[in-house]
Amino acid sequence: MEGKVFVTRKMLELDKIREMFPNCEVWEGDCPCPNEVLVEKAKYCEALITQLSDKIDESILSNPQLKVVAQVAVGVDNIDLAAATKHQVVVSHTPGILTEACADHAWALMMAAARNLIPSNKSIYEGKWTAYDPCGFLGNDFNGATMGIIGPGRIGLATARRSKGFNMRLLYHGPHQKPDFDELGAKYVSLEELLRESDYVVLTCPLNAQTRGLIGKEQLEMMKKTAVLVNIARGLVVKTDDLYDALKNHVIGKAALDVTDPEPLPKDHKLLFLDNCVVIPHIASATFRTRAAMSMISANAVANVFNGKPVEFCANKGVVPK
Ligand code: DGY
Repeated sequence: MEGKVFVTRKMLELDKIREMFPNCEVWEGDCPCPNEVLVEKAKYCEALITQLSDKIDESILSNPQLKVVAQVAVGVDNIDLAAATKHQVVVSHTPGILTEACADHAWALMMAAARNLIPSNKSIYEGKWTAYDPCGFLGNDFNGATMGIIGPGRIGLATARRSKGFNMRLLYHGPHQKPDFDELGAKYVSLEELLRESDYVVLTCPLNAQTRGLIGKEQLEMMKKTAVLVNIARGLVVKTDDLYDALKNHVIGKAALDVTDPEPLPKDHKLLFLDNCVVIPHIASATFRTRAAMSMISANAVANVFNGKPVEFCANKGVVPK
């Protein structure tokens, strides 16, 4: 295919992508592509294959030859979808394929936090494992506990399904009641009820006007003192300073964060010095199989647009392609 493609980051399946698109350029740096480079590439490329760390605004989307932005992620909050639709740029993304990997990761985070895996592991390196300690690193149970899912989409559902093996009670909250959740025996509740009753509060919602800053001081104060907050959504769903205060003052028990605000978190950030906070660098979908599939979904979306075909996962449905 002749169209010019710019891939903003080294990723899996680049050999296949280069074969599909001989006019493909890749940002080879180890850090995200600088915005000024992206702006220049967008002036002559028909397709961009982007990451969630790229800011795709109207200055990029208004380039007349640009036909498609293929985002290698499910979240598209870094892309101005309204501007994309206005300028007839198709935005594709990768829902579905990463669901199970992200749900696994939510559980990995939840367990790491609940069972003190990070501080207890650290204590070994600090030479503190000198004897078996009957009172050391006591954690939270899962069996019989209540999990509350905020954002009952695919990833929320897959996370909730895993709780059945742990004999947990399930609550969920979102804009609408969801039959899939009801079939699991989950109860649709208000945000307040979910926060008050859950031992594990799991954020799996997209970042949008309704969810930005959804969890702040007031909401954290509604939670149980022992509760674990898990965020695999977006950092901006939680007010960072409020979360820090809540953890430091033991208003809630623990947090496990795959995503943060800011992102990346500087290595001297105050959250990183709390023993009751697990921070992981945004890797929920990072398995070999999932990331390879995400790359190919994105490449195939570009190929479809170049061939005048609809893309499988369009984030701005209703867009009239160029
Ligand atoms: C996404 O794809 O949006 C997720 O953040 C992956 O971890």
